[in-house]
Amino acid sequence: MSLAGRRVVLGVSGGIAAYKAAYLARRFIEKGATVRVVMTQTATEFVGAATFAGLTGYAPVTALTDHPESVSPHTDLGRWADLVVIAPATAATLARIAGGLSEDALSATVLASEAPLVVAPAMHTEMWQHPATQRSIATLVADGVHVVGPVSGALAGGDEGSGRMVEPEDIVARVEDVLAGGMSGVKVLVTAGGTREPIDPVRYIGNRSSGKMGHEIADEAARRGADVTLVTTSGLPSHHWVTRVDVDTAESMASAVAAVEADVAVMAAAVADFRPASPVAAKLSRTEGPPDIVLEATPDILSTVVARSKRPYLVGFAAETGSLDRAIEKARVKGVDLLVANDITREGAGFGTDTNIVSIVEPDGGLDHWPLMTKADIARRLWDLVEARRQ
Ligand code: CTP
Repeated sequence: MSLAGRRVVLGVSGGIAAYKAAYLARRFIEKGATVRVVMTQTATEFVGAATFAGLTGYAPVTALTDHPESVSPHTDLGRWADLVVIAPATAATLARIAGGLSEDALSATVLASEAPLVVAPAMHTEMWQHPATQRSIATLVADGVHVVGPVSGALAGGDEGSGRMVEPEDIVARVEDVLAGGMSGVKVLVTAGGTREPIDPVRYIGNRSSGKMGHEIADEAARRGADVTLVTTSGLPSHHWVTRVDVDTAESMASAVAAVEADVAVMAAAVADFRPASPVAAKLSRTEGPPDIVLEATPDILSTVVARSKRPYLVGFAAETGSLDRAIEKARVKGVDLLVANDITREGAGFGTDTNIVSIVEPDGGLDHWPLMTKADIARRLWDLVEARRQ
């Protein structure tokens, strides 16, 4: 797999295997990744920071302050990372991370990052087998950390045994697996935001949709390795792996959608059903009095996706005010596989909020009511459900 466009933070802690981290950085770069290095102080005694600066083009972070490019290097690196990999990971670094400590730049970067973490332990056999280290490992595994190795072989000082760091190629392979995610190779289309239908060059008919839900859904699919196209009217940011097409009207959204092949489509946009039939070219003036605005129907984007010869797995949305009866009817007739319905009048649900309360409606009338959750959590649960259904 190519790592083109992937941002890898390589954490180096202080063990003799640190010399292999330089080669590991090189392998990531050859695969197309951008690499930034963070080192513990002890690691700098094994390999010079200049080596990593030369390889990566970025001065390694070795302290919580005093970086030439950042006043808060650990949070900058933590947020920047698509993945953090610690190689070698000493017993002390593993214990610090398992315990949530953050007294050096490396452990602080890990704590400041939501990115997946891969660790490649390296230490003497006694240290690896010590119950304290095994407790750290068990905690890390329970936290979802990916542990690669160690293996048996030659150790520092001429010793032999388990505790040897796996070879850089194996670490690269593990990183590729983690980055690939469960949705690797799946083409996902997401629509998001409310459309704006022009009345004149200044005014439009719009709605209160912020696009947050759709953007969370697109970002989460990208993090799971899907190949995501987001067709959006929203100015909100999106994950840098998402291919984004910015649109404004239902018409422009319809043409953008038509150009995207998809295995899964999630239609989270609030598309206007009607638009002014003849938007005027010049700004309407108050002196002319209230205009008569004649409306016409917009293209029904969802139905064009349903009609495709290669119809994707399809998730529709329905924002309702009040009971779910209309949503249940929509799930039955619209040709979707799932409908995410919400009552926008409920506290904590609906437009512009960070949370939502949704119900999953099946075409056969099946209903699952989810509790109040953040939109990010809804996105995760929705993809868990879609992935399970598509198997
Ligand atoms: N949708 C669409 N194109 C439209 C209108 C809606 O693709 N022109 C999609 C939405 O993105 C959503 C689903 O259709 O996934 C349902 O939208 P909704 O507005 O609830 O459906 P309508 O059939 O327009 O129902 P209503 O009678 O409530 O307006």
